[in-house]
Amino acid sequence: MGRLDNRVAIVTGAAHGERAALGSHFAKALAAEGAKVTLADLKDCASVAAEIESSGGQALSVRADVRDEQSLHAMAQATLERFGSIDILVNNAAVGSNIPPVPVLELEASAWDEMYAVNVRGPFLCVKAVLPQMRRQKYGKVINIGSATIYSGLPNRLHYVSGKGAIHVMTRSLARELGPDGICVNTIAYGLITSALTEHEMEQDPAHRARVFGPRMMQVHVHVGDVLGGLVFLASAESDRMTGQCLMIDPGSVCL
Ligand SMILES: NC(=O)c1ccc[n+]([C@@H]2O[C@H](COP(=O)([O-])OP(=O)(O)OC[C@H]3O[C@@H](n4cnc5c(N)ncnc54)[C@H](O)[C@@H]3O)[C@@H](O)[C@H]2O)c1
Repeated sequence: MGRLDNRVAIVTGAAHGERAALGSHFAKALAAEGAKVTLADLKDCASVAAEIESSGGQALSVRADVRDEQSLHAMAQATLERFGSIDILVNNAAVGSNIPPVPVLELEASAWDEMYAVNVRGPFLCVKAVLPQMRRQKYGKVINIGSATIYSGLPNRLHYVSGKGAIHVMTRSLARELGPDGICVNTIAYGLITSALTEHEMEQDPAHRARVFGPRMMQVHVHVGDVLGGLVFLASAESDRMTGQCLMIDPGSVCL
């Protein structure tokens, strides 16, 4: 018996991504608890969907661009046709956690707009795409992906960090608006997730390593496996009395 049996989830940004590929891990974790999962990304998610199916789960891979309302409507429709409901939306797709540092005076307005189109407007459009079905069901779980950097601040990435700030605020406002429909809206947030790539970057640049580890109360890495329990909790009935909140998984670099 899984904690998400009979639930249907959509995870955006669920391909094998450039950075930590968290979306693919999120999709697999939800499927392992029994959810049927739509994997949506600009890139092909077929290999992730095949992994889920070979483990006995059910998965649908769709191409979707979170900047494009039509494609998100198609994503929701394809999910309904295949699985019959939409219970969980994981607003994971984003760009920019891996961009090179840009001082504010060198940050082009066009780069700001491009980032916001994916990282802020995208989750808003994804909610619009699934909301009619969640309202019909009188049940839903929207999980937005935030970042610990909104509490600590981070220089030279103003568009990324402020966009994540918008996500945290959007969570609160949406939670208040959608509470009467039985829809929970929460954020899960974390700092840098250690992957093979980030480990290599820290080896090359000890100052970067010191910036990441210096503020942590516990001098430990956070790997993708460390955040999956929180994600499943927010997707499951265990968090049915929790909305408008931020679940921070962080070894003490910031305290709320
Ligand atoms: N990796 C970290 O250390 C870290 C830390 C804090 C927060 N986050 C957040 O976690 C989430 C996942 O990060 P990640 O490191 O796995 O990133 P990633 O780059 O590995 O994956 C992001 C995925 O989003 C997809 N995507 C990008 N633009 C899209 C669009 N317009 N439409 C649909 N899909 C699109 C990409 O193709 C990619 O598969 C993001 O929201 C990120 O901001 C990551």
